[in-house]
Amino acid sequence: MLKGRHLLDPTDFSPGELEEIFDFADQIIQSPAQFNHLCDSNLLATLFYEPSTRTRFSFEAAMLRLGGNVVGFSEPGSSSVAKGESIADTIRTVACYADIIVMRHPKEGAPRIASQYSLVPIINAGDGGHLHPTQTLTDLLTIRSVRKTLSGLTIGCCGDLKFGRTVHSLIKAASRYAGNRFVLVSPKELRVPDYVTADLTARGVVYQEVERLDEVIGGLDILYMTRVQKERFFNEDDYVRLKDVYILDAAKMRLAREDMIVMHPLPRVGEIAYEVDDDPRAYYFKQAKIGMYVRMALIAKLLGVS
Ligand code: NCD
Repeated sequence: MLKGRHLLDPTDFSPGELEEIFDFADQIIQSPAQFNHLCDSNLLATLFYEPSTRTRFSFEAAMLRLGGNVVGFSEPGSSSVAKGESIADTIRTVACYADIIVMRHPKEGAPRIASQYSLVPIINAGDGGHLHPTQTLTDLLTIRSVRKTLSGLTIGCCGDLKFGRTVHSLIKAASRYAGNRFVLVSPKELRVPDYVTADLTARGVVYQEVERLDEVIGGLDILYMTRVQKERFFNEDDYVRLKDVYILDAAKMRLAREDMIVMHPLPRVGEIAYEVDDDPRAYYFKQAKIGMYVRMALIAKLLGVS
């Protein structure tokens, strides 16, 4: 039963519950017009304490396409947050008006705090360098659509694996499916946090950490590229030194398998050359579109209208 639940961590829902969301998203993709009025009387609030394009727009587009309405802020400076209001009080208030709340925050764990004060579902739309569960729903549904399975895959994650919350989320969720293995490609300074690898080790999930993409790209089913997360660096020099370590270009794509797919949560800032966009294996814009449909399915399930 998904009605009324929060989504704070990608493993809050069982694989069976995720499947329910994915199956419904597939139905929406097949005939979106059929669901135009599903949320006619519902209101979604978007509380974005950090910049966003895809996540906020896709949530808003998702709710509007379900016939619902949207309120919110994308600039906390324009709300009472600027007067020093606490998350608890903001949430207690917004939950009086809205049926479901989407929250992005620079502090890890902020959406969990919010959930403790909310009578309506809270969706974590990214908390600091921690997790990004709805990006993970997007990523898993993209993989499922292309590969027809979520198991037995070799998933390469490349770039800023230290601060990249989409990667932490994807690894956490995808490692629950049998036979998936991970190839983690990053400079030493940007390796995944120890808690991520400790969890994989504890559950017997196979992974390797490497520094060169060209040496491993040929063995991957999925290549998940990420940008270096400038806003989470403590100093500019480190960012400048590390930002262009990986650039996926046509030459590297020639080393990859014909059926590998390239994913990226976006925005990209140079780590995938534009020449790769025309490669049929480039899936990042299709992935962004799937993100809207999976959010439609998620909203409907948490509101209990489907
Ligand atoms: C990601 C994020 O915000 O973590 N963007 C997104 O939601 N699609 C990735 C990023 O900003 O690099």
